[in-house]
Amino acid sequence: MCGIVGYIGNKQALPILVQGLRDLEYRGYDSSGLVILDPEQSRGGGIMQRVRAVGKIDNLVAKLKDAKYPGTLGIAHTRWATHGGVTEENAHPHIAQDGGIAIVHNGIIENYRELKEKLKKDGVKFTSDTDSEVLAHLIAHYYSTPPSIPPPQGEGKAGIRSHSSPLPGSPKSVTAFGVGLRGEDKGGGENQLANAVKSALKEVRGTYGLLVVHADHPDQIIAARLGSPLVIGVAAGEHYIASDVTPMLAYTKQVTFLDDGEVAEISRDNLRISNLKDELITKPTTQIDWDQAKAQKGGYEHFMLKEIMEQPTVFEDAIRGRINMEEGTAVLGGLNISEDQMRDLKRIVIISGGTAYYAGLVGKYAFERLAQIPCEVDFSSEFRYRDPICDKKTLVYAVSQSGETADTIMAVREAKRKGAHVRGIINVVGSTIAREIGAGSYIHAGPEMAVASTKAYTNMVALLLLNAIQLGRLKHVTQATGKRMLESLLAVPAKMNEILAQAEEIKKIAKKYTHYKNLFFLGRGVNYPVALEGSLKLKEISYIHSEGYAGGEMKHGPLALVSDDFPVVAILTRNQLYEKMKSNIMEARARGAKTLIIATEGDQEASEVADDIIFVPKTMELLEPLLNTIPLQLLAYYIAVELGRDVDRPRNLAKSVTVE
Ligand code: AGP
Repeated sequence: MCGIVGYIGNKQALPILVQGLRDLEYRGYDSSGLVILDPEQSRGGGIMQRVRAVGKIDNLVAKLKDAKYPGTLGIAHTRWATHGGVTEENAHPHIAQDGGIAIVHNGIIENYRELKEKLKKDGVKFTSDTDSEVLAHLIAHYYSTPPSIPPPQGEGKAGIRSHSSPLPGSPKSVTAFGVGLRGEDKGGGENQLANAVKSALKEVRGTYGLLVVHADHPDQIIAARLGSPLVIGVAAGEHYIASDVTPMLAYTKQVTFLDDGEVAEISRDNLRISNLKDELITKPTTQIDWDQAKAQKGGYEHFMLKEIMEQPTVFEDAIRGRINMEEGTAVLGGLNISEDQMRDLKRIVIISGGTAYYAGLVGKYAFERLAQIPCEVDFSSEFRYRDPICDKKTLVYAVSQSGETADTIMAVREAKRKGAHVRGIINVVGSTIAREIGAGSYIHAGPEMAVASTKAYTNMVALLLLNAIQLGRLKHVTQATGKRMLESLLAVPAKMNEILAQAEEIKKIAKKYTHYKNLFFLGRGVNYPVALEGSLKLKEISYIHSEGYAGGEMKHGPLALVSDDFPVVAILTRNQLYEKMKSNIMEARARGAKTLIIATEGDQEASEVADDIIFVPKTMELLEPLLNTIPLQLLAYYIAVELGRDVDRPRNLAKSVTVE
């Protein structure tokens, strides 16, 4: 939820930190702050300089306008409140009582109350209501009274590595994820600040992405992670640290991802990584193939529109190199299961949340039709508490754009504990879920900055379809059917472009629906998940209430709501359920509902039941969600823009839900 940025190098830290915070705004936040450590002004001549502000980053920048902060080391933070209100005192960085130690933290310290009481008994005065502040004082406690730490373990296996160049054989771009490359490292070391951090973290229960600096050590940043992401960008004579890669792409694409339980001692030229027992750890360096431009708006008014428009391109990225037309099957690397084990599977479970869940529902239709294996789609937040039935003949897919959704992380751990095979379908390279599973596929949607997920949704569906084709071809699907599906997939980007070319038409239609307070979205079969996703898009960015519903279910009660001020958006594309769906639409119209219809191009019959109609190209039924969702994304977008909403960062929401 929060955003963290750190820099240590030979450039002025301030502008790097401020831009980094702006690059992380999409994660959602309510306040921000930073600390700059100026060697000339560190202890003995002054202490670190801290500035914090409530509200947008601009408020922080306004406070900095006269700042003379030449320091080349600093840490910064955007806060999304979990403990304590939105106030400047609760904003990070938090500074320990002695003024020497500053920290920024992303996560939740579950036992902060007991730690706070203990520290108060030691005379510590707290200045905030947050859980995070405990870390600053606890680290200061151990810094001033260092317990004896045994010498570093595992000498010679790993440790300090000068990053003059990437590791030989580092992957140029990351498609499937699995065990990373191990570099050659050596040595270990004594570090009073790092040891204080480790001692403190041993007392902590909860999650953290944490950066720590000390006024007496203007030559290092300590980073630690458990449950909240941290990535370290590597360049000559400098290091960048952040919650994700976006803030560092303008400077470096060589990154090292911290894993849970790891602590990094980061100086200008060295990076030493170890665990809380001070056992040294090697880490692969990953080459990220996103550039900064890709993470910017590219000329569109909002990230969301840019990302809707990007779908044909990123869809090609999702399927590139994953199609074997000769065999009529999909080629998916990064597996952790043999073909015989796949043939022997008895059950598939898809765990996810929000839009990823609706993508998963499409996967259900594909797995059951192509692989003829029972497939259950479950909210991660429910799965993990339901005592799920999983075993070695269960394949669990964790579907997540961010790869950091706390519920899905915990659901993955539960599935693994129960002995299931687990695969990820993830967008963010090196994210926690990707690394914890160690097998699966990246969806290659590129950075998705808008809170409302669009391109990641279509790419998740693409990967689920590829997985279903691969599994189906191991069982009942013929080569001819497989080839036909793959050919249809290859034709999808051009068909997406045909729909996107109607954006201005859809914008005109959208304006006719901005005054309604309620809408229904109806679909049947594989378009039922499309209706659910279309409804979520509208809700989350326009704040208009809507419900996605199975068309055949309306007569069991919801039809009572239909009237002339409760319009119905319905998907009526030419497939096996066309007549049934048309009847459902007529039921709604008979009760006064205005109907906006998504229909197959050329189908004039559909116009008979439409007040407004948007045509989409024909495709195979299982692939329809890849196309039919796009007009609904645009509909939601243009309604929200018309209503003047903060489209990219809608109220109350965050891009990545890293807390329960
Ligand atoms: C979708 O538009 C929302 N932003 C939200 O429902 C999101 O899909 C959900 O939080 C899951 O996130 P993930 O894919 O990163 O796990």
